[in-house]
Order: sequence, then C-alpha cells, then structure tokens
Amino acid sequence: MSGRSILIKTEIPGPKSREIAARKERYVPSALDPLAPFYIAEGKGALVRDVDGNQFIDFTGGWGCLVVGHTPERVVKAIRDQAGKFTHTDFTAIPYEPFVALAERLAGLAPGPSPKQVAFFNSGAEAIENAVKISRRYTRRSGVVVFEHAFHGRTLLTMTMTHKAKPYKSGFGPFASDIYRLPLPNPYRNNMGIEDFERAFLALVDPEQVAAVVIEPLQGEGGFIVPQDGFLEYLREFTTEHGILFVADEIQCGFGRTGKFFAIEHVGVEPDLIAVAKSIAVGLPLSAVIGKKEIFDRLPGSSIGGTYVGNPIACRAGIEVLNLIEEDRLLDRAVAIGKTIRNRFLDMQKKYPLVGDVRGLGAMLGMELVKDRLTKAPAKAECAAIVQECLQNGLIVPSAGIYGNVIRLLVALVITDDQLGEGLDVLDAAIRKVSKG
Ligand SMILES: Cc1ncc(COP(=O)(O)O)c(C=O)c1O
Repeated sequence: MSGRSILIKTEIPGPKSREIAARKERYVPSALDPLAPFYIAEGKGALVRDVDGNQFIDFTGGWGCLVVGHTPERVVKAIRDQAGKFTHTDFTAIPYEPFVALAERLAGLAPGPSPKQVAFFNSGAEAIENAVKISRRYTRRSGVVVFEHAFHGRTLLTMTMTHKAKPYKSGFGPFASDIYRLPLPNPYRNNMGIEDFERAFLALVDPEQVAAVVIEPLQGEGGFIVPQDGFLEYLREFTTEHGILFVADEIQCGFGRTGKFFAIEHVGVEPDLIAVAKSIAVGLPLSAVIGKKEIFDRLPGSSIGGTYVGNPIACRAGIEVLNLIEEDRLLDRAVAIGKTIRNRFLDMQKKYPLVGDVRGLGAMLGMELVKDRLTKAPAKAECAAIVQECLQNGLIVPSAGIYGNVIRLLVALVITDDQLGEGLDVLDAAIRKVSKG
C-alpha cells in the first residue's frame, strides 16, 4: 500500500456504531438502508472517521455530492458566516444577493451562445420535475422521452422516468402518464445504431407531441454508461428539427467530475435545459435548472418555485464550491485522477476476467463485472461481495447498474494521489479475493 490513510482499530462496525444501528433499527424505516455499516463522526477531503475512531477512504463522495470533498475550509466558513446572518427568507418574500450571484455564475458556465437563466430547487428530482414542467409549458406538448437504465429520482414523475423497477418502482404505481422509454445506444450492451434509434422513436411516439427528451450525458445509477459516439450530437439535431427540448440531467455527471464542468461539453452540444444538484453545494439541499432565457420567459409569475428553494446558506456554499473548482483547477485534477483510475481499472481488467468493461469520462469511471466475457452475464453477487470486502478493509465504494454489477467511483476531486492509490489497492485486492472464490 502506498499511503496510510486507512486506519482500522475495531471490528467493523465497532461498538459505538453497533449501538446506534440498534436504535436505527427501531426508529428508522429499514428502507433507508445505508451502504456503510458504521456511523460517521467526521469527514475531511476524501477521508471519513467513524464514531469508533476508524478511518476510511470514501469513494462514494456522498453519492457524488462532494467533488470538493468533505468539509472544505472556505465552504464551511461561508456556511457558518451565512448561518449567523439569516438562514431563510424565501427569495420570493425577501430576496438576497447570494441567490442572484450563484445564478449568475451558473448561467455563465452553461455551454452555448444563448443567454441563460437559472431557477433553484431543493433536490435532483425536483429539478427534473421542473425541467419537465417548463418544457411542457414552453412547447404546449405533454410527451417526455427517457432512456433505458436512466435514473431521474424517486418522486411520482421522476420515479416514472427512472428505469430500474426494483427497488425504485415496484408496487408504487400507478405511474405518471406520457413518459416514453427508448433504448440508449450502448456500445457494450447493444449494437443499436442511430438509425435503429430513430426508427424506434418514430414507432413509439409522434415527435410533434413530445415536449422534452431527458438524458444523462453519462448515465450514473444506470452503470456509468457513455452513449455511443455521435449519439448526443444526433439527438440535439433530431430534437431541434422536431421542436423538442433537449434536457441534460447533469445531476450526477456534472460539476467537473468528467473533466469538463458539464459532461455535455465533451460533445459540444448546447442543451435547452440542464438539471444540476448533488455537488452544487457540498450536499446541502440545493438543485437548479439552468436554461435558455427565452424558455423561462414563457413562464407565468409564481408558476415555479417553492418555500425553501435557493436557501441562502446553500447558495453561499455553492459560490464557494465554484471558487474552489476554479482556483484549485479541479477540472484538470479530474482528468489526472481519471487517467490514474483508468490505468488501474484496465490493469484489473487484464488480471481478472470478472472485469468485462471499463468506461466513463474523466474521473467518472466504472467497471462492469461479468461472469463470462462472452455471454456478459452480470456478476451481481460478485460485485456485492467486492463492495463488502472493501468495507471491511477501509474503503467505501459504490456499485450501480440495473443488475447492480458495476463498480463506480465518485471520488472527491481533492483526493490525494496516495489516498487514491491506497483505495485502488484495496479494490484490486477485493476483486482478486472474490475472483478466486
Ligand atoms: C442523474 C440523476 N438524476 C436525478 C437524481 C435524483 O436526485 P435526488 O436524489 O437529489 O432527488 C439522481 C440521484 O442520484 C441522479 O443521479
């Protein structure tokens, strides 16, 4: 091991964590089911310490909320400062400058020449709900096209838009209407060409009745699937031709993780609306829809919003997150980290037949695990065993995918080279152990 960040002093979970877990069992629904068996006491950068004094490397980054890591100093300072001034007014009651300042910054970062505006919300799902509302109002159409393997949230509309039935949808119907799902041309799992996609679209729904196509430029929960080359550019042309809005869900893939601020920038496409959340404010409840001004201009007063949207503490945190990304050159860091991870993943693919595919962009990289490289049968149990083995050895690493057979990394971009190397060593050893059975 190159670094020495991991420090395991007790069995995992330790006695203090076990005591809290027993209380959790009694008072918190079992459906809220944490990955880590231990309880956190504090986090710094890419490291977390539990209540028993064990130290772990965190590859989950709070499910992708922490591109700037746990508790970055200047963000914490801004949060403290704002909490001492005012915590809430509701921007539509008494407005405040940090709301405008963060909107200004995000509008300036959005790709493409059209003037942009920004509306804030609380969660990723709420941003997607509003992107659909806004699209429907603008186009006066109702249809929404989404993709296989997509994840857009857990509210009624976004749960309908999400693909994976279990656990997200099963038993929770009836679902929202006018949602149409199409396969995503996926280089590893299907040979769908762009012509096949267009035929499937035209057979499924009349494009003139579609308000929006909502797509993750790099799918997150679905298993870090990068669409086939040229697909996003084609989709932009197709949607423009038919008066459909192109909505990019950048909730997981945005905020610099892929080496560009927005993942869609890798293909030079200007979406009509972009949904962001997660890393926008170190996990404080804040999300946004960034979009073309002419689209927002069609909305009547008070038709979007919410009591808590654009909370002042979250906006102050969001401004400092952007400052950190810029000043610490975290986009470049995402590229550098990405190279290291990709090389290590490719090396694991060479050593372990279990690793079927290595894919992603920048630091947003995953490995799809298969029982057999020819049949590509998903190695779900093996993936779960690897995650557990890592946890016992000081690394928290998330999985993803319809079959739960993709190891994905959502590391803080402030992770040090030693911490990254140490975490990847633990992962490598876990795959070796599980491969041997
Ligand atoms: C791509 C994507 N969209 C939407 C969501 C929903 O966000 P939230 O959990 O904040 O509602 C997520 C959450 O993981 C996501 O990854």
